[in-house]
This record gives sequence, structure tokens and C-alpha cells, in this order.
Amino acid sequence: MTNVLGLGLTHFPLLATDDAHMANAIRMTLRDPDIPADHKDPANWSPLAREEWGDDDGVSAAAGHRSRLLDGLGRCRKELDEFRPDVLLVWGDDQYENFREEVIPSFCVLAYQDSVVEAFKVLNMLNLPNAWDVSPDETFTMSCDQELAKEITAGVLANGVDVAYSYEKRKEMPFPHAFANTQVFLDWDNVGKRFPYPIVPLAVNCYGEHVIARRGGFARFAEINTGEVLDPPGPSPQRCYEFGRAVAKTVRERGERVALVASSSWSHAFLNDKAWHLWPDTASDRRFYEAMVAGDHDVWLSATGKEIIRDGQHEMLNWFCLLGAVSELGLRLEWSDFVETEVFNSNKAFAVFK
Ligand SMILES: [Fe+2]
Repeated sequence: MTNVLGLGLTHFPLLATDDAHMANAIRMTLRDPDIPADHKDPANWSPLAREEWGDDDGVSAAAGHRSRLLDGLGRCRKELDEFRPDVLLVWGDDQYENFREEVIPSFCVLAYQDSVVEAFKVLNMLNLPNAWDVSPDETFTMSCDQELAKEITAGVLANGVDVAYSYEKRKEMPFPHAFANTQVFLDWDNVGKRFPYPIVPLAVNCYGEHVIARRGGFARFAEINTGEVLDPPGPSPQRCYEFGRAVAKTVRERGERVALVASSSWSHAFLNDKAWHLWPDTASDRRFYEAMVAGDHDVWLSATGKEIIRDGQHEMLNWFCLLGAVSELGLRLEWSDFVETEVFNSNKAFAVFK
């Protein structure tokens, strides 16, 4: 008998700011001088993009996007509280945060002790207000069960995936936002301060060939088009699926009640070079979503790493881990939602597997 709940959710950083700034990613992209003017002209945009952009550059539409995301996060929190996990194991990307030029592990268990996390350090670095209108210096504690994290690491190694581990976060950087935002978003009303469950972060090198080349984020087309120096690729989608299976086997061999969580949005506009960083690849996201709903993992397993990068779906590697785990444990999709957007950078998916 395995006590496992599977969840998929978003850690969209701009959800943590106010409506006036939620469309900041596309506003930054529109300032890239190397994007052709006709692509920047709203007259040539899709109906959804024009509707979201409106006459106030996306400010009014932000409330609707926020409410869809908070609905999905609220559903995930409700499932967690009904399930009462002993621990959450969260797959998330490291965007040039903990891991930089010294070492880029494909997979790394962050086997920390309890961490005091600065809730808005990333927003503060971007000079953005927070959505709660509380102090920018707000902190919360992420309880990280170090002994359990070490045992999970040992189990995954025994189950055939050579995962790395770390005991200390990089000192000068904020706590990696994929994990920090997961706690804040799942405990929205308390800004992460009263989240009752420990988290063991499982970092995945989702950014692969762009992790150092683009410092985990935006690049201008001037840099891309003048001979961008790429890094080696990240782990393949199939290997991420195998990592998920190894984590699932480990969890099955133990007795805890565990929530396995994939934390990330899907295709990101700022990574979708073929759409001039303006739009996510919604057609490709839909295809994955429909396959997930149908329980058809062949569509997922036939994806190549190059296709994932081409379509700006870098962070979906976290979801490949989750789907591997789900398949290993025979969990079924009980509920899901797919939130499409054009101007809020990325499509977002939510999923509950039982
Ligand atoms: Fe991310």
C-alpha cells in the first residue's frame, strides 16, 4: 500500500506581484530592438493576445489570470490538507540560482535543514511590489527534513539514478524560486508563513543548454543571433521520467505519506525563440496536456530534448519527473486544468493524481 498524492502546479514569479506588473515579461520583450516591428504590433496578434492586452497593456486581464491560478493552487492545497502528507517532494528548476559555473547537476536533492526564506527577494531585485502589499522583507521558514532527504537520495541511487545532493544553498542568492514560490503559493493567505508540511526540493537542470548561456532567463536576439555559446544539454525527457520512477520506487519502499509535486509552468514565451519570445507554444502544450489527460505517456516519451528546448518547454522536465512517478505507482489523474495565456508569459497546468 503506497500513500502517495501527485500534484502539478505553477511557480509563476509574476503571480506574486500586483496586476499592474503581471505582464512585465512581454513588456520587456517588446523592448528588444531586434524583434521585427510587425511582430510587435498588436494589430497582428492573435485574438486572445489582443483581448488580454486590451487598452491597458494587460493590467485588467491580470485579475482574471490570477483568479484562474489561485483556483488551481487552492484545489492543490485542499487535496494536500485532505491527504495530510508527512512531506512534499518537489521537482523544480534551478534558474542559475544555486547552480552556476562551478557545477550544474542534472538532478540534485537539496538536503538542507530548515531554511529562512526571503519571500520577495526575486521581486525586490526586479523592483516589483508584492501582491499582498506587505513588507518587502517578509520571510518564512521552509522546513526541510535533512535526514529524510539523505535517505531519499540513498534510495534513488539504489534505484538506478545517480542523483547529486547538497547540504547548503548558495549564500548570496535567494532560495531557488521554484521551491520558495511553491510554498508561498500553496499557503497564499499566509504568504507561506503557516505552511504545515516539510518540503524536500529535487532540483532538475531544466534549462540545459541555456542555463549558463542565458543565466536561466531572458536573452536578447542580438546575443542569440550573434553566435550564442550554448551549454551541454540537460537530462533528456526520458531520463527525467526515469528519475521520477526512481523517486516513486523509493517512496514505495518507505512508509511515509508523500506528496510528489511538479512545480512549473509549461511553454515560456521568453524561451520560445521561434515566436520571437512573444508567445508560448500553445499548440505543443495542448498536445501534451491532452495526452496527459488521456493517460497517453507515449506522446511525452517520444519528445526529444531538442524539441522541448525549441518549444520553450524547458521547465516541463519537472512534469516528466512527475509523470514517471505516476506511471510507476499506477496513480490516476483525478482532476486537472490548463490555463492558456498569450501575454502572461506561460501557459499553466494543474493536476491531481491519486
Ligand atoms: Fe521556473
